[in-house]
Amino acid sequence: MNYRRLGRSGLKVSELSFGSWVTYGNQLDTSAARECMAAAWDAGVNFFDNAEVYAAGQSEEIMGEVLRTMGWPRLKYIVSTKFFWGITDGPNEKNTLNRKYLLNAIDASLQRLRLDYVDLVFCHRPDPNTPVEETVWAMHDMIERGKALYWGTSEWSAEAIREAWEIAERHHLRKPVMEQPEYNLFHRARVEREYAPLCETLGLGLTTWSPLASGLLTGKYRSGIPAESRAAIPRMKFLVQSLTDKAANDIVARLADLARDLGCTVAQLAIAWCARNPRVSTVITGASRVSQVKENMGAVDVIAKLTPEAMARIEAIAGGAGG
Ligand SMILES: NC(=O)c1ccc[n+]([C@@H]2O[C@H](COP(=O)([O-])OP(=O)(O)OC[C@H]3O[C@@H](n4cnc5c(N)ncnc54)[C@H](OP(=O)(O)O)[C@@H]3O)[C@@H](O)[C@H]2O)c1
Repeated sequence: MNYRRLGRSGLKVSELSFGSWVTYGNQLDTSAARECMAAAWDAGVNFFDNAEVYAAGQSEEIMGEVLRTMGWPRLKYIVSTKFFWGITDGPNEKNTLNRKYLLNAIDASLQRLRLDYVDLVFCHRPDPNTPVEETVWAMHDMIERGKALYWGTSEWSAEAIREAWEIAERHHLRKPVMEQPEYNLFHRARVEREYAPLCETLGLGLTTWSPLASGLLTGKYRSGIPAESRAAIPRMKFLVQSLTDKAANDIVARLADLARDLGCTVAQLAIAWCARNPRVSTVITGASRVSQVKENMGAVDVIAKLTPEAMARIEAIAGGAGG
């Protein structure tokens, strides 16, 4: 495993990391999550991604319990959480990045995670109903109070990120250091076009999500929906159309042939392709079982196999697919 700087910050994150969306509290109980986190850790992962809203707080509780029992030195791992959607009802508890919500939410997350601080905290989506300046001050205060070390955004427009950064610069506040966007062979525009100038000028780091497009890029949906898969989960129904799309699955089949030539699986190829982008600080992987973690971590060895020739072959197959 290699470690990369999170943008222009001094923090080093493993180029592959491990997150808990969909899985913890739904597909994985504490003991299965422990097994997966241990496998990721053994492969060199130092960053574990989480969010308040994942399984309505249960994902943080499970991760907190695993971290407590693992006894890993706090200096050696990085944990994140994210705020926006909220998990309780009320005018200041849902779909907001206002000061009141943010400064309450962090305390509840830390309690569930059983941590004194999180390393990374993200504003999980933009909030059109709170001035960016209010959010920037709240994130700054969260850090000044020792509850988080770095803050960033997730799926904000480049324009809004720049606005937040400039407010922080003007008032000598903590600046947003990283953004967490979706990035995979079928979803590229935001990272490659919209955020690229921010990476260059502001030194923004990227912690990218869904490298396998929710499993599409493993090839598992080429002949329908397997019983034990994300698409088979009733509340994930919104993904069924994209996961079973014929044209997309034909592209995956062609990528699988290329992966075979390179001596890897198509999942490893897809993850390594994300990590091959130097603007990506870490590729957040997901898994519903330990065998997937082990396979996906093998992508580390595939990054170097993605020569300009291999990248050109990938581009020829999937270049037109990325939205
Ligand atoms: N900031 C955001 O808004 C945001 C949004 C989404 C995700 N994230 C973060 O990014 C992380 C990763 O996202 P993701 O889970 O969507 O990643 P992904 O890599 O696109 O999908 C992971 C899922 O694909 C399947 N899978 C993974 N490896 C496999 C393999 N080798 N063979 C077969 N199936 C495999 C598993 O689902 P099944 O086995 O159930 O099919 C697994 O849960 C999340 O955990 C979260 O931390 C952030």
